[in-house]
Amino acid sequence: MLKLNVNIADRGYPIYIASDFSGLEKACYDAGLRSKMLLVTDSNVEKHYSRACVEELRKTGAEISVHVIPAGEHNKNLDTVIGIYRKLLEIKADRSSALVALGGGVTGDIAGFAAATFMRGIHFIQIPTSLIAQADSSIGGKTGVDFDGSKNMIGAFYQPRFVFINTNTLKTLPERELKSGLAEVIKHGLIMDADFYAYIDRNIDKILSFDENALEYMTKMNCRIKGTVVEQDERESGLRAILNFGHTIGHAVESVSGFSMLHGECVSAGIAGAYRLALKLGMTDKGTVDEVEGTLKKAGLPVKAPGMDTKKIMDQMFFDKKVKDGKLNFVLPKRIGEVQCCALNDKEILKEVLDELTVENIS
Ligand SMILES: NC(=O)c1ccc[n+]([C@@H]2O[C@H](COP(=O)([O-])OP(=O)(O)OC[C@H]3O[C@@H](n4cnc5c(N)ncnc54)[C@H](O)[C@@H]3O)[C@@H](O)[C@H]2O)c1
Ligand SMILES: [Zn+2]
Repeated sequence: MLKLNVNIADRGYPIYIASDFSGLEKACYDAGLRSKMLLVTDSNVEKHYSRACVEELRKTGAEISVHVIPAGEHNKNLDTVIGIYRKLLEIKADRSSALVALGGGVTGDIAGFAAATFMRGIHFIQIPTSLIAQADSSIGGKTGVDFDGSKNMIGAFYQPRFVFINTNTLKTLPERELKSGLAEVIKHGLIMDADFYAYIDRNIDKILSFDENALEYMTKMNCRIKGTVVEQDERESGLRAILNFGHTIGHAVESVSGFSMLHGECVSAGIAGAYRLALKLGMTDKGTVDEVEGTLKKAGLPVKAPGMDTKKIMDQMFFDKKVKDGKLNFVLPKRIGEVQCCALNDKEILKEVLDELTVENIS
């Protein structure tokens, strides 16, 4: 089992990376958590991992209850949070109790928000089981739910006491979800670490066939990169924005697709868009754009959103919160492994890129 630390002032915490759940008891012990725990999981993940986790958590001597929420982003709302509050009241949870999120990013975000707000904050543990959650959402302390059609509109920054990643849980994740998560992994390499990017490019097949060493290395690097950014900018006042690489176009595509494309698939198209934009602005060369698109394709990810309406994507981007004084803020590549934040003045260039992304049957 590997252990990394996220060093944030007085709220630092460890991330454990393992290939089973056997280290959970010690992780709880080291965090001083032995009181009541409520394991929150979703209806898909419950079938696979709830029993094994409960068995390990019981070894701490704590009283463990389980609350299953319905799977899916459309359940990421305040009603689901209320269900958790009610269960916490039913088991007579108090401020020494812990809420444990076992599942993907949806479960982690919902349970984290419930933990942040119940009795003004109870202990929170993340056991992420999807690649998006293991690479991204379980680290950094952003929690929350969707509200009135807007994603993550209600939420809180709330750090877990620890994150426990069992990389073998990825084996039961639907393949499309796994590939979608790879977009965030490739993003991590592109924004901060060219060697990691090259490693992923060389080892995509190993990752997709669950090679344990490759999974462990990938997870370690994801946590290190995301952890480093969060350590320097916990509340997204500066550096953390680089994690939005590929997301300005990606989020708009996600909305316009009516969420028929998965988040990572949209981020992949958004990364391709950011590189194409950088090419038009003279910030990168065609060879680099082709290389990055090649990696995304190798991971089974789309680099386009064919047939989508450019104007709708454009409108959605300006509706998005990243607009400042009518200018869109973009994270654009400097070179592989480094990005920079820029305000984009030229809407025409953006339109050209979106036309390239949405055109059908031309590469
Ligand atoms: N808090 C953050 O910083 C942050 C960062 C990125 C994304 N997010 C949020 O994360 C969510 C997306 O995360 P996600 O892709 O994990 O979604 P998800 O939680 O819906 O999981 C995707 C699907 O996989 C299933 N699943 C998860 N793990 C599984 C496993 N091991 N075996 C079988 N099935 C499994 C889930 O039941 C679900 O059907 C979005 O709501 C997004 O806003 C948050
Ligand atoms: Zn993302």
